[in-house]
Amino acid sequence: MRIRPATSYRGHLRLPGDKSITHRAFLLGALAKGVSTVAGASTGDDCASTRRCLETLGTRFEDEGSTIRIHGGHCFAQPAATLDCGNSGTTLRLLMGVLAGVAPAGTGIDAILSGDDSLNRRPMERVARPLREMGARMDTTSGFPPVRVRASRLRGASVSPEAASAQIKSAILLAALNAVGTTKVHELLPTRDHTERMIGSFGGQIRVAGTTIEIDGPQSLRAARVRIPGDPSSAAPFIIAALVLADSEVILDDVLLNPHRIRYLHLLREMGADITIEPGAAEDAEPRGRIVARTSELRAVTIAPADIPALIDELPLIAVAGAYARGRLEVGGASELRVKESDRIRSMVEGLGAMGARIEETRDGFTVEGGPALRGCAVASHGDHRIAMALSIAALGASGDTEVMGGEVVSISFPTFFDELDRGTAR
Ligand code: S3P
Repeated sequence: MRIRPATSYRGHLRLPGDKSITHRAFLLGALAKGVSTVAGASTGDDCASTRRCLETLGTRFEDEGSTIRIHGGHCFAQPAATLDCGNSGTTLRLLMGVLAGVAPAGTGIDAILSGDDSLNRRPMERVARPLREMGARMDTTSGFPPVRVRASRLRGASVSPEAASAQIKSAILLAALNAVGTTKVHELLPTRDHTERMIGSFGGQIRVAGTTIEIDGPQSLRAARVRIPGDPSSAAPFIIAALVLADSEVILDDVLLNPHRIRYLHLLREMGADITIEPGAAEDAEPRGRIVARTSELRAVTIAPADIPALIDELPLIAVAGAYARGRLEVGGASELRVKESDRIRSMVEGLGAMGARIEETRDGFTVEGGPALRGCAVASHGDHRIAMALSIAALGASGDTEVMGGEVVSISFPTFFDELDRGTAR
């Protein structure tokens, strides 16, 4: 994908539905008795992977315009083939939890979960281990996918995930719905809480006290209507574009405003960004509203390790903001970035570095010294949608064209990203 420099960015858009919430709506819709509806789902490839796996397990999905109807609550059918989770860690890890137990009315299945080359290099013992404490039978391939899951009778347990990860937590909570007794998850740091909120929307009972979440099982869920707000992680590239280019403004409507997901907006404000957040009426389990961002002079900050889980998907774009800010931006305690769709520390240091940014890799993060003007060149997405988008935004303010190799990977979360970007940029 070739990105030409831009003088400004102006846009008013409605983003694709939130990816994390869409995965959960599909999974809980498949588990809950009755017909659930999901409006405004993510159109990205990752959520299509979750849907395809659930269809392979016998759940029927129907499209009605932009609403999806899910016929849930039937026992899963033994899949004839490997469940292909594509590039999606959320699909594979949450399915480990969903398939670990034997549903009260059912028999349970024996399934193999696998993915593409990137997903098959990502760690899975971090999910398998706590699930085994609940009685699950899981075999990873030396710690990685393919993962074999043989459903068994689960019992509640008190578990402490080894990483602050919403995917691990969610796998445990989904397994807990089929376990006998109480499951307690003790998180290292708070992570996105969409699973907890959505279990409530589907009629489940769940207790949250600080970083401990408790759920009594077994529980059955009932169908729900879910309206998915716009994805704040897809808002981030447009917000950074509007902040760093001259004479720019972006208005984003109906964006998810869950505090675990919009920490980056507050961080950018600490950096001097002109961002307004207008919460909408509180109607659903998840808050939503409008975000407006305008051209700003940014100053670098040091990011506290405790903030990392709430910033995790936006850190590549924070690095871009750092390259356009005054001073030295420091990120530490972010080693989780190394086990995402690519090693995001290495990918950003390589890409932004090639464009002339003063960015350095550390063991668990990076530093960026703002100042040097960026210049366009060929950079690699490393098959990682967030890297492709971050480097494309960096390229807007560079001199000369940038070639983002493998840019088509944006379809993982945001298939129309380049069209939207093109629509709003003035050259
Ligand atoms: C996700 C959780 C995050 C995030 C990922 C989606 C989720 O991962 O990076 O893109 O939907 O639960 P971890 O919480 O496992 O780090």
